[in-house]
Amino acid sequence: MRVHVADHPLITHKLTVLRDVNTPSPIFRALVEELMTLLAYEGTRGVRVEPVDIVTPVSPTTGVRIAEPKPLIVPILRAGLGMLEGMVKLLPSAEVGFLGMARNEETLEPTTYAERLPEDLSNRQCFVLDPMLATGGSLTAAIEFLLERGATDVTAICILAAPEGLKAVEQALQGREVTIVLGAVDEQLNEHGFIVPGLGDAGDRLYGTV
Ligand code: PRP
Repeated sequence: MRVHVADHPLITHKLTVLRDVNTPSPIFRALVEELMTLLAYEGTRGVRVEPVDIVTPVSPTTGVRIAEPKPLIVPILRAGLGMLEGMVKLLPSAEVGFLGMARNEETLEPTTYAERLPEDLSNRQCFVLDPMLATGGSLTAAIEFLLERGATDVTAICILAAPEGLKAVEQALQGREVTIVLGAVDEQLNEHGFIVPGLGDAGDRLYGTV
């Protein structure tokens, strides 16, 4: 498993506004999308391409295009939905599947309440989107689900991670073809399973409390 923490002043700047408790939902949503686009640049470094012959106004040449089968983008509902638009802007030909997961607030165990994904993910490159990697339970379950369906390589893109959760995901998925791209690794998890300093509950800040 490979972990990459993006180190860019623009990402840190946008993250600072995102963390601020006074940032209202409309700005929070816009920033999540912008951060996704910045993280996608790193997250898609390994996207599979194939050669293609074209002719420029000057001469024939060979370039590349996104290879078949097309990549699959999988936002984890709800909060991952806030990242989807920022990702499809960069990978418009990708397909999109959905996984709905909710973490039990007491046990912190994730449950899957919705799934709309191809049955067979053989040879498929998948990009999982979730802004928060806290205990790592949701991300581990989501990635294991994709690998069980035959996905060959999985990249997860998260805005924030807690060191404890990152370690747990690394232990659970060691030896697998998985990359995790992060905007930042914070200090720790608190007793409620929230990332500290973090940004609070990303789903609630994006979409309100339901
Ligand atoms: C949050 C977050 C992750 C998960 C992280 O979702 O978006 O999916 O918790 O926690 P973990 O690493 O400890 O599993 P939540 O369950 O609050 O659902 P929501 O996106 O609908 O708000």
